[in-house]
Amino acid sequence: MELTDHAYRIQGMALTELAQKYGTPLYVYDGDKIVSQVNTLKEAFSGVKLKIKYATKALSNVNILRLMKRAGTGMDAVSIEEVRLCLHVGFDPSEIMYTPNCVSFAEIQEAVELGVMINIDSIPMLEHFGTTYGGSVPICIRLNPHILAGGNAKISVGHIDSKFGISILQLKHVHKVVEAYGLRVVGLHVHTGSDILDAEVFLKGAEILFEAATEFPNLDFLDFGGGFKVAYKPGDISTDMKDVGAKVSAAFQRFCTSYGKELEIWFEPGKFLVSECGLLLVTANVVKPTPATTFVGVNSGLNHLIRPMMYDAYHGVVNVSRLAGPERIYTIVGYICETDTIAADRKLREVQEGDVLAIKNAGAYGFSMSSNYNSRLRPAEVLLFGGKDYLIRERETFADILRHQVDVSF
Ligand code: LLP
Repeated sequence: MELTDHAYRIQGMALTELAQKYGTPLYVYDGDKIVSQVNTLKEAFSGVKLKIKYATKALSNVNILRLMKRAGTGMDAVSIEEVRLCLHVGFDPSEIMYTPNCVSFAEIQEAVELGVMINIDSIPMLEHFGTTYGGSVPICIRLNPHILAGGNAKISVGHIDSKFGISILQLKHVHKVVEAYGLRVVGLHVHTGSDILDAEVFLKGAEILFEAATEFPNLDFLDFGGGFKVAYKPGDISTDMKDVGAKVSAAFQRFCTSYGKELEIWFEPGKFLVSECGLLLVTANVVKPTPATTFVGVNSGLNHLIRPMMYDAYHGVVNVSRLAGPERIYTIVGYICETDTIAADRKLREVQEGDVLAIKNAGAYGFSMSSNYNSRLRPAEVLLFGGKDYLIRERETFADILRHQVDVSF
């Protein structure tokens, strides 16, 4: 978003005009920026055989998935429904990595039938898989490296208390199962969490994976998961992609030489590709001074963007209706019947009822984690691509609230 020609704009389009055209609350995505993020990642790892598996869960509108396909990514899916979404937009099953956690074996079988790569994350599942398929279906194994990534415990998943992956300490057991069933392990995976700041955490994960990998002779790839950090606050540090690319690629090349085969390196970024590419536009319904603060109550809330309440996440807010004038401190809250603070104690240009506020970093885990809580409608989504705006999801209607409810008479 830039302030040019008397308006806050993306790709030349004024946000206030988009708000007027489509109404608010409205998710707006910058498709050009998504493509440029994909390219930044490709460049950073240009020295190795890179495969990007976009984390579908971050933003799963089919048009975004199609954009990813066009930009040349594969997909990371965590549910059979996500697998089906990826297939629906035309990804080949071979481009999809399915990483389930605590799903039924029936769901894994469904995924095998669809032909996608299965990432197994528990020993019982590995045994079940062995009993059913033996070595006839290649698999990946998800390891839990027991390292704490990032500062936010809620989104760190590679530590010892986490439910994800097979503990690196159980590797011996894994080998016993692999040998007993003749399993064909072609990939190893770690995902340590979201918001990983520096190359060191990736390198730590990588070292653990390299060591484990030496004992698997038939590997085709190593998958380092997602988790690149993007800036949410002014002054926030984001992952230095060039630095991570150079350091991790060098370590990976060294490993491949000693392994005796040029493997593929996989990443599963969600936030890095879409977080900063999305805004949630909302309208100020009320400006309410209280003894403690002045609240701006907007026509949205934790039903549309749950990250601030769920993770204490910081999202920047800009009053895009006011380009000049005094600034004041506000706490921006939603209209949900719960404490749903979107942003506390923020300096905004003086807000008047009807002003449009842009909530930043709403591309990743925004719409995809939204709900109908308080029987509210979910927002519309608009994609800006090549200087044009496309409505990619209609705003819900009251009929959507009633859909699937069975109105019985008793
Ligand atoms: N791969 C796996 C196996 C994952 O579990 C995740 C995220 C990713 C890749 C993508 O991570 P990313 O690059 O987006 O950080 N909803 C939370 C974060 C939890 C994400 C869960 N898994 C948030 O809004 O911060």
